[in-house]
Amino acid sequence: MTGTLLAPSDTTARTAHALPTAIVMFGASGDLARRELFPALINLFRQGRLPEQSLVIGVGRSPLDDETLRERIRGWLPSAESQWLGRIRYLRGGYDDPATYAGLATMLADHASQLPVPADRLYYLSTPAQAFEPVIGHLAAAGLNRAVAGGHTRIVIEKPFGQDETSAQRLDAVLHRAFDESQVYRIDHYLGKDAVQNILTLRFANAAFQPMWHRSWVDNVQITVSETVGVNDRGGFYETAGAARDMLQNHVLQLLALTMMEPPASLSSEAIRDEKVRLLEAVRLAGPAELDRLCVRGQYGPAPEGSTTPGYLQEPNVDPASRTETYAALRLEVDNPRWSGVPVYVRTGKCLPRRMAEVVLQLRRPQHLPFAFGHVLDDAPEALVLRIQPDPGLRLRFAAKRPGHQLSSQPAEMTFSYPAQTQAGVPQAYERLLHDALVGDPSLFVRSDEVRQSWRIVDPVVRSWAASSTPVPSYPAGSWGPVEADRLLTREGRRWHDDR
Ligand SMILES: NC(=O)c1ccc[n+]([C@@H]2O[C@H](COP(=O)([O-])OP(=O)(O)OC[C@H]3O[C@@H](n4cnc5c(N)ncnc54)[C@H](OP(=O)(O)O)[C@@H]3O)[C@@H](O)[C@H]2O)c1
Repeated sequence: MTGTLLAPSDTTARTAHALPTAIVMFGASGDLARRELFPALINLFRQGRLPEQSLVIGVGRSPLDDETLRERIRGWLPSAESQWLGRIRYLRGGYDDPATYAGLATMLADHASQLPVPADRLYYLSTPAQAFEPVIGHLAAAGLNRAVAGGHTRIVIEKPFGQDETSAQRLDAVLHRAFDESQVYRIDHYLGKDAVQNILTLRFANAAFQPMWHRSWVDNVQITVSETVGVNDRGGFYETAGAARDMLQNHVLQLLALTMMEPPASLSSEAIRDEKVRLLEAVRLAGPAELDRLCVRGQYGPAPEGSTTPGYLQEPNVDPASRTETYAALRLEVDNPRWSGVPVYVRTGKCLPRRMAEVVLQLRRPQHLPFAFGHVLDDAPEALVLRIQPDPGLRLRFAAKRPGHQLSSQPAEMTFSYPAQTQAGVPQAYERLLHDALVGDPSLFVRSDEVRQSWRIVDPVVRSWAASSTPVPSYPAGSWGPVEADRLLTREGRRWHDDR
């Protein structure tokens, strides 16, 4: 078998920091490959960031071959150049069929034999989770897990990283029988967003913000990751997940870790990940007696009159008696000297009024208010808002003098807009992460112990909801979730930031 290789680069802008790589994409016919992975690879190619003489091998059960996969990609991405498409091969086969891996070994050896230097291998598991274990096991059985002399072998794995702590540990055991942890790149695509990485810059590169990041300034922390859409045609998958597993365990807790971790000793990948793990270790959830009060779930019902949005129970492939939550809100605490006593409210959900991800540090009222100004901010306290999406940026809300004769105050805002993600030079999340995996930088990937700590936080909640016989509170599609989630804050004299 011969591989189709791209001629060496003709532009000096191309970077040569990684070896030629065989990128093996399991699940290449799927939604993620279409929407994110192939577009990211094309962008990397155009920027000269895809190592020279690399090859992309799509693997799957779909009845395709090299040409039909290329045609399919051309249909998905009309702008794909034939030069780039020439790098694509397809290997048809079952994920649990040893013949697939024998065929893959031949293609990889063939690719390597055409190169003057050793090749790296990057396996990308873009299949549903049930295929992860067979693929990993068969790669090892075929000896394809080992690094080829002089090159690297890495594996990128998509979430979900297990369904709970036990299954995550089982997946890790399977992974670690085949790969060293240093070869494993667990993707949480939120970490690839520039605005998320900007949290570190804001926190650690500015004298102004550093003292503010402390319980003496911060009254409470709020993290919201909301979606306007329902489950649409992903009901079958969502029934096995729910909001806590789908969003809280990964995106929300990653935002929390980056926002609240201690300054790392360096910006090395291990130093940053060590601090994230330490922070997650310090996160405290309510004890069993308080779980009901401090962990709120909800399920969207139909939108109010006049809208066609169905409720969750009416969605395709959803059990009409399902108790899967589409909304989750928790009150957490971080038990360390910096954050002790500061409540952390996190929430995520589907069919909410706005699609956004943001972190809010609500600040304490000044201890002494000589002009009785405080009341103007009582409903909307001073706050530092880190907006991840849409419109990434920063807002500082404060009180300013109301213009006029009176010495009275009104709320004011200072804003900073982060350059649009589409602006040249700002990589999309998958583009950034794929590139980092190609060059072997794991900083923005999730380490095994981070996954374990995240499940330690989320597991008791999911278990208690599964065991509970109380009905799942319903909220109308298009609202900000069940009223119980508001009570989480109002009974402590607080409100969700800006959501009404
Ligand atoms: N889509 C997203 O936006 C998104 C976001 C974050 C994470 N993820 C994760 O990324 C992975 C891929 O997502 P996706 O949306 O692309 O999945 P998908 O479209 O459902 O599946 C990808 C491919 O995997 C194969 N496949 C489907 N069902 C399978 C099964 N039961 N057993 C083995 N193979 C199966 C199919 O290829 P063949 O039939 O050709 O083998 C399919 O085209 C999943 O782990 C998902 O959780 C996806």
